[in-house]
Amino acid sequence: MNRIKTGISGMDRLIGGGFPSETIILLSGGPGTGKTLFGLKFLLEGAAKGEKCCYVSLNEKKDELLRACNMISSLGTVKKYIDKNFVIEHVQLDEHITMKKFVNIISSYPNIDRLVIDNVNKLLMFSDSGKNYRSHFSELVNYLKKMGCSLLVCETDGEHIDTGHSEAFECDGVVNLSFLELEEKPMRTLDIHKMRYTPFDPKMPHEFVINSMDVRLGTTKVI
Ligand SMILES: Nc1ncnc2c1ncn2[C@@H]1O[C@H](COP(=O)(O)OP(=O)(O)OP(=O)(O)O)[C@@H](O)[C@H]1O
Ligand SMILES: [Mg+2]
Repeated sequence: MNRIKTGISGMDRLIGGGFPSETIILLSGGPGTGKTLFGLKFLLEGAAKGEKCCYVSLNEKKDELLRACNMISSLGTVKKYIDKNFVIEHVQLDEHITMKKFVNIISSYPNIDRLVIDNVNKLLMFSDSGKNYRSHFSELVNYLKKMGCSLLVCETDGEHIDTGHSEAFECDGVVNLSFLELEEKPMRTLDIHKMRYTPFDPKMPHEFVINSMDVRLGTTKVI
């Protein structure tokens, strides 16, 4: 099976080399767990190989995302690809651009190898109802299946893996980021809840490290 490298080599090793191609992965977690940086690293991995990558941001503006990249050495090379094969699009949802309109915008995109949408919570916020959100989310997922690989960022309360609107069921994979409250020092963790077409150890927390050098899996054993 064709595997899409995630940009985090430790993560690739957990899932047989990377995400399966033509899949939609839900990247969920509480505030500040590293979702946006993971998304940027995932796209940078593709951009460096010449793939067409697009970051659709419903929250932070392009300069804010570039500022975040500048804080981390391994993400600093993003600027080589920006406005070439790595595009950051800031879409501001409001009563005119609702979830329904947003799905139309995405379906008008040309073929993209890697796409990140950050985050689905904004789509939920600008939906008429939970029922409409679920039906448009399903439409979005079906559309994205035609693309290389998409990452949908989902902010959660830290206890759940999605917003409670079936996003985890709809997606092919679910990667969850969280904080483990250890006595000495809380630790960022990553665990995989679901990955279709892939053997893996479910729900095993791995140390997830963010520092000035890189965003990566750590070596500390988490029991
Ligand atoms: N160079 C760095 N060294 C250490 N920590 C850093 C560095 N750069 C960023 N961080 C930390 O990484 C955290 C997570 O960043 P990120 O924006 O990816 O999280 P997020 O899950 O997307 O958060 P949000 O809930 O705001 O969307 C930041 O809050 C920041 O504290
Ligand atoms: Mg974020």
